[in-house]
Amino acid sequence: MLRHSGWLICTALLLSACARDESISDVPTSDSYDPARDYFSFANTDQFVTDHLALDLAVDFESRRLSGTARLDLRRLDPGATEVILDTRDLSITSVLAFSSENSPLPAAYRFGDADTIMGTPLVIQLPEGMASAAAVSLEIAYTTSPQSTALQWLPPELTAGGNHPMVFSQSQAIHARSWVPLQDTPAVRITYEATITTAANLLAVMSANNDPLAPRDGSYFFRMPQAIPSYLLAIAVGNIYFAPLGAQTGVYAEPELLDASVYEFADTQDMLEQAEQQFGPYEWGRYDLLVLPPSFPYGGMENPRLSFITPSLLAGDRSLVAVIAHELAHSWSGNLVTNATWRDGWLNEGVTSYLESRLMEVIYDKDRADEERVISYEELLLDFENVPLPMQALAPRLDDGDPDDFQGTIHYHKGQLFLQYLENAFGRDTFDEFLFDYFKHFAFRTITTEHFLDYLDANLLSAASATVSREQVEQWIYEPGLPDDAPVPTSATLDAAARLAGGWAIGEVPVGSVPVADWSPQALIHFINNVPPDLGNDRLGELDAAFGLSDTSNAEIARTWFIQVAQRRYTPAYPQLEAYLARHGRGRLITPVYTALARNGVDLARAQDIFEKARGNYHPQVANSLASIVYPDYE
Ligand code: BES
Ligand code: ZN
Repeated sequence: MLRHSGWLICTALLLSACARDESISDVPTSDSYDPARDYFSFANTDQFVTDHLALDLAVDFESRRLSGTARLDLRRLDPGATEVILDTRDLSITSVLAFSSENSPLPAAYRFGDADTIMGTPLVIQLPEGMASAAAVSLEIAYTTSPQSTALQWLPPELTAGGNHPMVFSQSQAIHARSWVPLQDTPAVRITYEATITTAANLLAVMSANNDPLAPRDGSYFFRMPQAIPSYLLAIAVGNIYFAPLGAQTGVYAEPELLDASVYEFADTQDMLEQAEQQFGPYEWGRYDLLVLPPSFPYGGMENPRLSFITPSLLAGDRSLVAVIAHELAHSWSGNLVTNATWRDGWLNEGVTSYLESRLMEVIYDKDRADEERVISYEELLLDFENVPLPMQALAPRLDDGDPDDFQGTIHYHKGQLFLQYLENAFGRDTFDEFLFDYFKHFAFRTITTEHFLDYLDANLLSAASATVSREQVEQWIYEPGLPDDAPVPTSATLDAAARLAGGWAIGEVPVGSVPVADWSPQALIHFINNVPPDLGNDRLGELDAAFGLSDTSNAEIARTWFIQVAQRRYTPAYPQLEAYLARHGRGRLITPVYTALARNGVDLARAQDIFEKARGNYHPQVANSLASIVYPDYE
């Protein structure tokens, strides 16, 4: 949970629900705050930057460790610097060798600095004499990860679809790469990488790199990532993973048990890619594949380059949840190609991506579907404004404290998306599309701050004679809470109709049998559920449940919406299914708001704790931690 100068906020994707914190204060004003500085890394990137990383790691499922070496090729920026400071968390270091073009490898002295619960532990490496002025230095660090690595989840066979093989996967964003590789863990530094991964011969390793679908399955895998990426995009998974093609340049990796369902669900991926290239510019990464993980994967998707990691909860059987794929694919431009300089600029990744996602949904499916999703996002945003402290409602707020994982909330996503929608409306779609196309080209493979974006926007759109938007108006979006008065308000005729029917049904005017749910998208049903007025008895909720099969739905988003209501309204007949739902899913967005509703309905805190204790072994450590802070109000 983010403790930000005395505030307690919880808008995170992992948490995605919270209550108003009454102790909100104004932004602490300190002149020393530097918006361009990454407050979440110890690395001395003003003195050295890494250009390339070479990993050689063995995967040991028995001890739940990766061990081997990481070689960092560093460029010196400061001629006087003699120490390299890297980020680590829970790593055991066994040796450090330093070498440069003039020197053969020499042992380097190293020590750990003070540990920080959120940032980990700085590793300070002293360059050997003689190398103190070399322009380029390489460090080879021999190390082992801890079984508690916050990036890695080691799954026993029971937690996989097949049940016969173990699996491990990483989640490096925001600052977890340091728990499996010692490096400069900041999006401000971009690296190319190569990796040799050794594991059991029957398992396949994949990475955010040049996966070869035809690679011999022999337990020894070599990867190369020639495009420079920030550390949070470093990714690995090892397990009983197989490949199936989706299109010429696209495919899906999954356990064999999930492969057919994945191929069906994600069949539109190649189309999405081709459409995205037309609208946003060339896809710079070679192949685009998906990796469908077990249910404990903490996010809907993670945009690891060339290989997005995906929750299996998207496998609804009707392609209704593939906006997440459009989202992760769109990150290939916004985020992976043009990267936020620090987590404070996260809207440049998530807001721009959410806008691109909605544009892709519109062309691949239709405007109605895209509008439905826009309205649902907008309503989530309005709810968030009720809960998030005012200073944190800015698109680019002050952020020098707390946990950046907890910060990536819906403000970055939905307010960012709405801001781009606003610009599109003001300048016209064609002009704005051209702007975006040029923006991605201009900043390709660079890391930028909000202010870089603003200056570019100013120079290329706002300064046109015909511009109807001023820099002041734009700055209101970026630096002020809430929404400007002239912010767009998304609408959807189908969702409006669903909301009206919910009202009509509640007052007895519309019989449940005449609600045309069979013709509806899951989004329309979600909207209906959200618009059922409070204070209906369990008999009325039972009527809905029986008519729509809500408690037994296999659509994870419908289930999420329903079980939030079940917990808030204490519709106890569905508690057994609610409990089963919380045990089955591990994606933070799906389960956190349900736990929150249970823990806060005034009656079920102990029940929430009980369900959590039974299910916590199924959860990713990052999610389990967030949940613990919800069900145990005193949890630190
Ligand atoms: N990059 C994010 C996931 C993330 C954010 C990980 C912050 C760690 C810290 C990913 O692209 C994402 O946004 N996932 C969403 C998808 C949704 C908004 C379509 C998710 O997991 O729900
Ligand atoms: Zn995203």
